[in-house]
Amino acid sequence: MTYHIDFQPVGRRGECPAGLSLLECARRLGVDLVNICGGAGTCGRCIVQVLEGTLSPPTPGEGKFLSPEALAEGYRLACRATPLSHCKVRVPPESLTTPQRTQVEGEETSIEPDPPVRSYLVTLAPPSIEDLRPDAERLLDALAEQHGVAATQVELAVLRDISPCLRDSHWQVRAVVREGRNVVALLPPEARPLGLAVDVGTTKVAAYLMDMESGRTLAARGIMNPQIAYGEDVVARMTYASQDPDQARRLQSLVIDALNHTAAEMATEVGVQPSDIVETVIVGNTAIHHLILKLPVTQLARAPYVPAVDAALDLKACELGLHIAPGGTVHLLPNIAGYVGADHVSMLLATGVTQAEGVVLAIDIGTNTEVCLVNHGRLTSLSCASGPAFEGAHIKHGMRAASGAIERVRFVDGRLEYQTIGGTPPVGLCGSGILDVLAQLYQAGIVNRGGRMQLDHPQARETDGEREFVLVEGGRRPAITFTQKDVRELQLAKGAMRTGIQVLLEVNGLVAEDIDQVVIAGAFGTYIDVASAIAIDMLPRLPLERFRQVGNAAGMGAKLALISRSKRAEAQAIAARVDYVELASAPNFMKAFAQSMYLE
Ligand code: FES
Repeated sequence: MTYHIDFQPVGRRGECPAGLSLLECARRLGVDLVNICGGAGTCGRCIVQVLEGTLSPPTPGEGKFLSPEALAEGYRLACRATPLSHCKVRVPPESLTTPQRTQVEGEETSIEPDPPVRSYLVTLAPPSIEDLRPDAERLLDALAEQHGVAATQVELAVLRDISPCLRDSHWQVRAVVREGRNVVALLPPEARPLGLAVDVGTTKVAAYLMDMESGRTLAARGIMNPQIAYGEDVVARMTYASQDPDQARRLQSLVIDALNHTAAEMATEVGVQPSDIVETVIVGNTAIHHLILKLPVTQLARAPYVPAVDAALDLKACELGLHIAPGGTVHLLPNIAGYVGADHVSMLLATGVTQAEGVVLAIDIGTNTEVCLVNHGRLTSLSCASGPAFEGAHIKHGMRAASGAIERVRFVDGRLEYQTIGGTPPVGLCGSGILDVLAQLYQAGIVNRGGRMQLDHPQARETDGEREFVLVEGGRRPAITFTQKDVRELQLAKGAMRTGIQVLLEVNGLVAEDIDQVVIAGAFGTYIDVASAIAIDMLPRLPLERFRQVGNAAGMGAKLALISRSKRAEAQAIAARVDYVELASAPNFMKAFAQSMYLE
């Protein structure tokens, strides 16, 4: 039996099997509900309102998040409610994973391309009764005679199409040869071999279409990682994938489908074919890497967090379901550890910090923050679970960096003034705004060093036993506030990051003042006000000129690795040079963590 479920105002509707939760129905119909806990009923963020139809009775756990009045008005947690009839459901905007500002730009490094593939225009003599060589041999002979290329093999995927391709093209093609050995694609004579560089983040995906031979970036796109519908952090997604092979397949195909769609869009934009893409480089954290390859993740989600593989890999694109040239290759940069992945290697590669003299701290801030301390050539890295607070999760009025998000906050004449993304009316706080609010409240003495909010400001109040600071008064829309609990969430997030920095300094026998430069990568890191981050002691108190915000460095690293074999080798060398530190087992971890919770 199925029920017709109609999600409004997003306008997605369709049939869903009876017995599925509303959250699962939403996933099947492509409605991305916020589900930080992955559907465990513990985050309270998947709130919807049933307008028509019958649902299973409210569960006791829903009472924690919904008042009796709200339940009476049809509000429910989508992950706890199961349709018992056809239903019409309203999805409030705050329950949708809104389209957000994605970060594709980063500091470009121009290098001489040294790609693993080269293309050659070849003209073949058609077969005759005197010349019965097979098509593949004819092609390899022509490559050797016309270009001196000693290719030895034509990929099976190319062989499957070689005969009609040669004849349809009147015996003139552009043959793409990988590593001087394998013919991986036959393109039209006028085509150029293209590449796809992708940084798959936990929240966002950045993709770049590049000319493999000139190294030029032809198009770039930022999209949301569609896996987000199955959990905002990688732990929830690994749990979901571990429960059922079908669920693991779903997570994999979501990313691959998104990459296929994005590649096709970029190809259309520049007037080429997706089949002109002959090489792809994908970087991501270790969990994302494993989910994309459908590798086991159960062991990765549990201490001691062991990856199935950490070496760089070359795979056939068709094995992953990527719709590029059928003989095309996907290269994955090496991982370092369970929570320090190829995206960290890629960031180190792009920023060039591994070659720096002196002491450099490189930080990629995200749900997991990876930090590397470069100490006169010695590399030490660790990962700290900063959590999704900087993405706006676990913050009462937090949201992603989308239109209407408060992104900057300042005290002016005793009142907090703010700026929103797009200049539209405020609907919540994104990461940089959250950081600013705490810094401003702390500097104004409204939040003390231990994180306790004071009530001696006209905008501070206590509601239902919780202290909060009113940023935007309520009217037709609810008030936007910053609560005592939000302060605590931020203390945990910034404390985790600060502890990581402190542990790296101690492991290297250094103090913060020894740091010559701090490189901050990642979307959140691009938009934060460094002074605010210093004010709450998230970052070390150093002169502002020592900080460099570099944008999406992991994406830039993927681009470098795409067009350069020497950069791939450099990435492997970096991964081998990094000493990995397990943060929780570092000496003084607990002491450093307790200390780093203070806002100074
Ligand atoms: Fe439903 Fe978290 S409470 S997804």
